[in-house]
Amino acid sequence: MIDRVKEYLEQVEAFSSTDPQEIETFRVSYAGKKGILNDLFASFREVPVEEKKAFGQELNKLKEAVTTKVKELQTQSRAGASKMRISDPSRTAFPIDTGNRHPLAVVKNRIIDIFTQIGFSISEGPEIEDDWHNFTALNLPAHHPARDMQDTFFIQTDPDILLRTHTSSVQVRHMENNQPPIRTISPGRVFRNEAISSRAHCIFHQVEGLYIAKEVSFADLKQTLKYFTEALFGNSKIRLRPSYFPFTEPSAEVDIYWGLETETDYRITKGTGWLEIMGCGMVDPNVLQNCGIDPDEYSGFAFGMGIERIAMLLYQVSDIRLFFENDVRFLKQFKATL
Ligand code: DAH
Repeated sequence: MIDRVKEYLEQVEAFSSTDPQEIETFRVSYAGKKGILNDLFASFREVPVEEKKAFGQELNKLKEAVTTKVKELQTQSRAGASKMRISDPSRTAFPIDTGNRHPLAVVKNRIIDIFTQIGFSISEGPEIEDDWHNFTALNLPAHHPARDMQDTFFIQTDPDILLRTHTSSVQVRHMENNQPPIRTISPGRVFRNEAISSRAHCIFHQVEGLYIAKEVSFADLKQTLKYFTEALFGNSKIRLRPSYFPFTEPSAEVDIYWGLETETDYRITKGTGWLEIMGCGMVDPNVLQNCGIDPDEYSGFAFGMGIERIAMLLYQVSDIRLFFENDVRFLKQFKATL
């Protein structure tokens, strides 16, 4: 009897398979209700008394060997199956959710890309500014009425510390630390104490541009803007309308020709076909002087635009608040590699 058990033990140890069906058949033949193990336990009665102890020990060994074997083979077979599944090229891909960039980041990167291609560097500055960099150096001395053009969040008074109202503050910082030729753009977040509506928001984003060198003219400014609008909108039909900014003289507002093809075009251009996209001008000599650059030797131009406004035009988004609510159903619609 004991020899039979030992034979079974050898067979169990020698058994191997990766086929789940075969493993199951093996398990049932030993550990099933009518399996070998139960048969052997049933024959326990017939074993002579003096052999009972040894027989019992062998039988337990066999039972354990079966359990271990089955477990081991099942684990191997499962691992093999999942490996096969991964390498199966006909399998449907996992729905991998990669996420995407925020539309404002997409537009910002696009603008950066366009200007860096023609030699502009990127400069940044602090969001918490002092009065000098946000106002005074930009030809806006204390009590200048044009300070009211931008409602300001003050953090502290005397000396005034505030949240910058435009990224023009970065052009001051850049000129203070660099001599011409200067070619730089400054993207960043700005803050204004405005009522929140579908077109205005207290926090938004701007890109400021600055070019200072010898004999820079208004024609250079216009050509640069035409290059930019062509690259971004695929349309370089622009017009410059005389305007006023304290830091530029002369100053202009830039309109792009949007067309009047659809009803929306009529609505957003108020029936004119033209849309304002940014402010610009020749840097006021006072500003150059304030920043340590000799206005008799150098001249330059500057421009500034709102990223939200450009994104609203490019993507036909009618409400600025959508950019800040971060509803994934909105954000998911913007796929871009930039
Ligand atoms: N700083 C202006 C604003 O926030 C935008 C601007 C206009 C910037 C004309 C400029 C410029 O550099 O030349 O409204």
